[in-house]
Amino acid sequence: MKTRVLPTASAQELEVAIAESVDLLRRGEIVALPTETVYGLAADALDAIAALKIFEAKERPKFDPLIVHLPNRGWLSRLAEVPPEDATLVGALADQYWPGPLTLILQRTRIVPDVVTAGLATVAVRVSAHPVFAGVVAALARPLAAPSANRFGRISPTTAAHVLTELDGRVPLILDAGATTHGLESTIVAVRSGRMEMLRPGPITIEALRKHGEVEIGQVRGRLEAPGQMRSHYAPRTPLLLLADISSFRAPAHQRCGALYYRTRGEGTFAQSRSLSASGDVREAASNLFRCLRELDDANLDLIVAETIPEHGLGSAIMDRLRRAAAR
Ligand code: TXA
Ligand code: MG
Repeated sequence: MKTRVLPTASAQELEVAIAESVDLLRRGEIVALPTETVYGLAADALDAIAALKIFEAKERPKFDPLIVHLPNRGWLSRLAEVPPEDATLVGALADQYWPGPLTLILQRTRIVPDVVTAGLATVAVRVSAHPVFAGVVAALARPLAAPSANRFGRISPTTAAHVLTELDGRVPLILDAGATTHGLESTIVAVRSGRMEMLRPGPITIEALRKHGEVEIGQVRGRLEAPGQMRSHYAPRTPLLLLADISSFRAPAHQRCGALYYRTRGEGTFAQSRSLSASGDVREAASNLFRCLRELDDANLDLIVAETIPEHGLGSAIMDRLRRAAAR
């Protein structure tokens, strides 16, 4: 399969890109699309065979359910059952964060294919704020299942070039809208019995969620609840070591080591280094994280040494991804 990349910069390019995407999606094909978090690999969420193609292209295990992106909030009641005790909370979260980087886990309705939810009784839903994604899903007028557009277990793509590296020859079309805004996948929150459980930290912080009530931190249970929670996820191929103080690190003899700094870019023993944000802006750091990890991973290093980040706000989501990158 030949993979085409279409630009979306001008109004005319966008129109063509949306029309070609919708044409493929209507025929049950997959298309890689930008969202405000990371690039997603999309298929018609109500077409089980189309959704299966996502699993094939990503080599994703079938027990790992997909996020469904709604054309608008009106679709929520068609895909999810919200019991009366959760209605106020779900309504408040959707009012405040949709469209945007918050995914809600709710009881599903029967129209959601089993393959999309991996057989679970729940479905993950969000509404993307990205104008290109929003344009495609509105024109299709059907929800889109879309996980991150990387091969399973790899670093999520934040540019169209990253998607091409991951999925060249496996997807017919990629829409290019430049780098994504947040650079980290959406926050995932399960709502049950009027309570929130955060299953994946992300751009909507736990501090922000707490304004809506108590938030439990999700645990990996006996059965894998959010496979994004598998320890080794977002993994570079190069071993990664997480250190509070990189400056005291000395590279072993004959080892090429790379440094991933939060703000400072030290000199000295490292063959390569990147800093996530020179000014210590945590949003900038999040948006650069996966690109920097990818660049270091491509630099033929024996080891990547990453600096820890203060764990509050968005820093918690960055640390979550770094810990997973370090786990193997
Ligand atoms: O920002 C994002 O969320 C991006 C963009 C493309 O929207 N998508 C994304 O999808 O990160 P993915 O598949 O890479 O991560 C989705 C996570 C997985 O860890 C999956 O297990 C979890 O959501 N998930 C999906 N449905 C679930 C459910 N019913 N219960 C618990 N976890 C679920
Ligand atoms: Mg993913």
